[in-house]
Amino acid sequence: MNKFVILCVVVLYGASYSVEGASRIIGGTVATGNEFNYMVSLQRISEVAQLTRGHRCGGALITLSHALTAASCLHNNNQLIVASEHRLFAGATRLDDDSNEYRVRNVANFTIHPEFNPSQRFNYDIAVITTVSPFSNVAVSTLRLPTEDIGIQLEPGCTTPGWGAQNSSATASYQLMFIRSRITENAVCFQSYVNQGTSITVFPNMLCALPPTNSTGCHGDIGNPLVCGDYLQGVLFLSKDCASPVVMPSPDVYSRVFSHGAWLNETVFGIISQENTTTVAPPTESGASTYQAGAGLLTIFALVQIVTSMS
Ligand SMILES: *[C@@H]1O[C@H](CO)[C@@H](O)[C@H](O)[C@H]1NC(C)=O
Ligand SMILES: *[C@@H]1O[C@H](CO)[C@@H](O)[C@H](O)[C@H]1NC(C)=O
Ligand SMILES: *[C@@H]1O[C@H](CO)[C@@H](O)[C@H](O)[C@H]1NC(C)=O
Ligand SMILES: *[C@@H]1O[C@H](CO)[C@@H](O)[C@H](O)[C@H]1NC(C)=O
Repeated sequence: MNKFVILCVVVLYGASYSVEGASRIIGGTVATGNEFNYMVSLQRISEVAQLTRGHRCGGALITLSHALTAASCLHNNNQLIVASEHRLFAGATRLDDDSNEYRVRNVANFTIHPEFNPSQRFNYDIAVITTVSPFSNVAVSTLRLPTEDIGIQLEPGCTTPGWGAQNSSATASYQLMFIRSRITENAVCFQSYVNQGTSITVFPNMLCALPPTNSTGCHGDIGNPLVCGDYLQGVLFLSKDCASPVVMPSPDVYSRVFSHGAWLNETVFGIISQENTTTVAPPTESGASTYQAGAGLLTIFALVQIVTSMS
């Protein structure tokens, strides 16, 4: 019982920090030019007069009308936020770049992964944001969905851009920053969190990437993409505390986009694959395993039990 309570505290701490504007890329590099034109900022329309334009979290375009983000980004206290109260900003590196209205689109709706449970965050933490009208392809670019899974890396091979704050006393940054990171084994990732007294379940449909020394996408920059080549491989949902300098950062944890290919095909393109037809029905235990098989997961059983080292 005690263990369970401790875990909840850890989970809520991570999640609430991430969403409430306390997302950070610390020790990153300033992003300039057009290479990050796929990057979106989900913004509260009521706060767009602020310097950081009501930035709530990050995401990335996969079509001119669809962005991928974390499902936890779209919840406040377990309640889904209201689509019509938000807008997407894309195609610029500064949030205060108001030079053209083609950078902004209203949000039509959110599609949360059906297996996501806001009161048990982390698993299936992925969602699609659909805009009322498409962005212009002159203004933005789109990332490709992975056609194959990505393996671990010995050197940093992926990029995460984000508008999270650059230090722990700021809320967000109007300047887009990016870090390069290296995909690690899920087991190493799990152990790294255990070593720090924070255990999370690293499911096979998650992906861990280690930021460089002294930098991190901390407490989130929730929804930020992990981009490897032209491919959107991950959606950030968890970063470790970055209140103090992070010499040995923990890996950041992402939803593994490849694992959600069948659901994305259906949600974004209306393509229902043979193996995936059962997910049309309300989510059930059997629906879940069918879905995972359809998404090409190698293992269904890799559920590392949630424990804390503080027993
Ligand atoms: C979401 O919005 C798009 C664009 O307006 C629309 O085509 C689609 O039917 C909507 N989906 C849902 C589930 O309301
Ligand atoms: C933190 O970031 C904010 C906004 O970028 C900046 O104004 C402030 O000086 C920074 N504080 C520290 C301690 O670096
Ligand atoms: C990382 O930060 C520590 C403490 O601030 C500093 O001593 C060290 O030189 C930094 N390392 C790098 C590679 O920047
Ligand atoms: C998604 O659709 C594309 C195009 O039809 C197909 O190549 C791919 O295999 C599908 N992915 C999954 C996981 O069903």
